[in-house]
Amino acid sequence: MTTVNRQTAHKALNVLRRRVRWFVRPPRVPSALPPMFPGALRMDDQEEAAVVEAVRAVVRSKKLFRFYGLSPFQPSTVRELERAFANRLATRHALAVNSGTSALVCALVGLGIGPGDEVIVPAYTWFSTASAVVAVGAVPIIAEVDESLTLDPADVERKLSPYTKALIAVHMRGAPADMDRLSAFARSRNLRVVEDAAQAVGGSFRGRPLGSIGDVGAHSFQMSKIMTAGEGGMLTTSDGTVHRRAAMYHDTAVCPHLGVSLDDWLPGVNLRMSELHAAVLLVQLGRLAQTVDDMRTRKARLKELVGDRLRARGGRFRTIHDSRGDTSIALIFFLPDPNSAKRVTAALADENVPASPLYQDLAYLPHDHIDLHAFTAWTPILRKRTWSAEGGPWHRHPREVTYSADMCPATLDLLRRAVHIDVSPELSAQQVEQIGAAIVAVLAAHT
Ligand SMILES: Cc1ncc(COP(=O)(O)O)c(C=O)c1O
Repeated sequence: MTTVNRQTAHKALNVLRRRVRWFVRPPRVPSALPPMFPGALRMDDQEEAAVVEAVRAVVRSKKLFRFYGLSPFQPSTVRELERAFANRLATRHALAVNSGTSALVCALVGLGIGPGDEVIVPAYTWFSTASAVVAVGAVPIIAEVDESLTLDPADVERKLSPYTKALIAVHMRGAPADMDRLSAFARSRNLRVVEDAAQAVGGSFRGRPLGSIGDVGAHSFQMSKIMTAGEGGMLTTSDGTVHRRAAMYHDTAVCPHLGVSLDDWLPGVNLRMSELHAAVLLVQLGRLAQTVDDMRTRKARLKELVGDRLRARGGRFRTIHDSRGDTSIALIFFLPDPNSAKRVTAALADENVPASPLYQDLAYLPHDHIDLHAFTAWTPILRKRTWSAEGGPWHRHPREVTYSADMCPATLDLLRRAVHIDVSPELSAQQVEQIGAAIVAVLAAHT
């Protein structure tokens, strides 16, 4: 059987199995749950009004571009968003861009990272974290995550080379990386720290907003994020040089607006945010604290409901470095072995619980179901493939860097034993109780 036929058969069998299962006993969560689009689900007529107002303002004033237009005194909505975001994070600067990936690229360019440099990234993150490093011509070095599913400081130390210039601490699945240990280590080795807060906008670590602790932060406002305009991103920093360089890169010709002389000008591209996106994001920023609060109360209750049963079955919640700073978009726990995790995830899905595995056997998945968070799926990097025939940043790098699908065994072990449950801010109190009861019952029956 071809791979495509096998995948189709697999999908069809699953649908059939669920239907039969439904007739035997209805699922423990009987109603459809809200999908995991925290920011988008919160949208209402406020966003609509903001867009209508922004359209009206830009059309009437004919100022459709942040830097100039027919009404030079019409304020820029993008600039207003930057000010509000920097204010919330207490950073000196914020630079609005068109995506989280763009924010990462600008952060690396801002730090002066490029060919000949290495940047340490976690083995579990969205592919963009690693591909942004390749985009600036540097070599990504993949390091283990620990039970927090964020960068393991001990492995960062092992992966260090004379060419390491920076590490990217990803606040994965909404929760902070260990910024105390990572920052102290980076300081001791003269490394720069980028925080990838794409999945954790609104989170904090020991009272400091994520994205304001390292040298520079990157945030995403893509459709599935905590605040969203469908697309969008933000770079945050208190380092004036990083901001100036990033601003130059995000706009080919920004230099007149920044007061940069032709002698200091560096080449950029165009990664600017549009005025209309900023209008939506200003409303979403106003909702952020409440959205995060709602996820926190729901996750805390779920942990209360399932904690005892989980521990009795040899399971453990994911380590959270500062639970007060967790945005709580997900409840993740580890079971003692991969087979239990597979059985529990499948049984939870049968109960209508929004559960998913964190590791998948790629051979059996339809293309639109492949999860690009685990490093094993990052084939362009594992196979060192880029856009030029010559072969990208590895080709002229001063040392040979090798990758393999089993290079981070601790990460793979964790991902294979993990069960991930979405925590939507829209879950009703009753749905939270139903999900909790379903998890308890499934753990009892399948572990
Ligand atoms: C951890 C992480 N980094 C970076 C990104 C990239 O953000 P965007 O999709 O806005 O480019 C994402 C988005 O999914 C992400 O989850």
